[in-house]
Amino acid sequence: MLGLYIHIPFCKQKCFYCNFFSIRYEEDFADEYIDALIKHSLDFKDKALDSVYIGGGTPSILSSKQIEKLLCCINDKFDLSKLFEFTFELNSDSTTLEKLTILKNYNVNRLSIGLESVDDRLLSLLGRVHNFNNFCNVYDLARQVGFNNISIDLMYGISHQTLKDWKNALRKVLSFNSANLSLYPLSIEKDTMFYKRGIVTSEYVQRDMYDFSVEFLEQNGYNHYEISNWARSGKESFHNTNYWRNKEYIAIGAGASGYLNRFRYKNVENIKEYIKLINKGLNAQFEKEYIDDKLYSFESIMLGLRLLKEGVSIKHFNNKYYQNVLKRCIDERVLVQDNNVIKFAKGYEFLFNEIVSKFVI
Ligand SMILES: C[S@@+](CC[C@H](N)C(=O)[O-])C[C@H]1O[C@@H](n2cnc3c(N)ncnc32)[C@H](O)[C@@H]1O
Ligand code: SF4
Repeated sequence: MLGLYIHIPFCKQKCFYCNFFSIRYEEDFADEYIDALIKHSLDFKDKALDSVYIGGGTPSILSSKQIEKLLCCINDKFDLSKLFEFTFELNSDSTTLEKLTILKNYNVNRLSIGLESVDDRLLSLLGRVHNFNNFCNVYDLARQVGFNNISIDLMYGISHQTLKDWKNALRKVLSFNSANLSLYPLSIEKDTMFYKRGIVTSEYVQRDMYDFSVEFLEQNGYNHYEISNWARSGKESFHNTNYWRNKEYIAIGAGASGYLNRFRYKNVENIKEYIKLINKGLNAQFEKEYIDDKLYSFESIMLGLRLLKEGVSIKHFNNKYYQNVLKRCIDERVLVQDNNVIKFAKGYEFLFNEIVSKFVI
């Protein structure tokens, strides 16, 4: 069984903090792109999928017709008889009742909505195109259409946002009782408007906000299953968890990264070029790396340590060097061994980068 990721590299406008691969949406160009995605998916015809994730960019910016065409193809060309989770990313600004109904009719059973902030002042500071009221309307609409597995993305540590603002934001978001919450500390990425403007973030403020989130969401019944993700029990993202379990998955679309037959690959990050290659029946992959046993162990540790409850199997610490590093981390009580599983000691996941760097050989 495999997962499938499809990248939709279109947005209404570029948010000031974002360096994900996306460009401004144009209907005709998106038509050509959808046709290329459909053609590309034929390479994997009849594969049995247990999860599908359509992400971006902003998948909901596609027209109803484009969404229906793409979903119809996925339902037709793949074996979805054992499908467990089918996620579609939304921005509330471009989501309509018609689009939600199409998603429901074509087996989408999970929505991921980028809310980012509950404060309209911060939303405009981030360069977002929606406001809070707009989000509330779309969330209610999605519930009415029958979606009960909805994930909300929020960012914290935004300039001008205080710890008090963040506490209020989490209290407000709790009232939606969403299945999953993804909380990300704002990071200033190269080539973004924030980077150009010299915006900075405070690690200390972000740490306080993170600590509050951990405590508050645990008190309110959320399972902190991954460093940046909390879920109601049983609603943990299956597709993303498989990614952290270092399982293989197919990637379709410009700029999308996949992992198949021990090769990690990335498709060309130029939409015109991607369409051209696919239409000529050529390979759209431009980066390909074989994951040998050594790299496989490292990646399994790096990804698996993000799963705070599940952790990573001890079998990946399979050489003398790793065993020594692991012993030191356990002696220092940063990592713990629980039967055959290694995980972060409670409250030490903030050392993630430092600990993972110790396993780089
Ligand atoms: C690639 S975006 C896709 C979701 C959708 N395009 C949207 O923005 O509504 C996934 C999430 O990553 C987070 N994100 C993107 N850039 C970030 C940054 N520079 N720092 C922190 N989080 C970021 C946001 O929370 C965003 O919702
Ligand atoms: S954060 Fe989301 S909506 Fe904003 S530019 Fe990036 S991908 Fe597009």
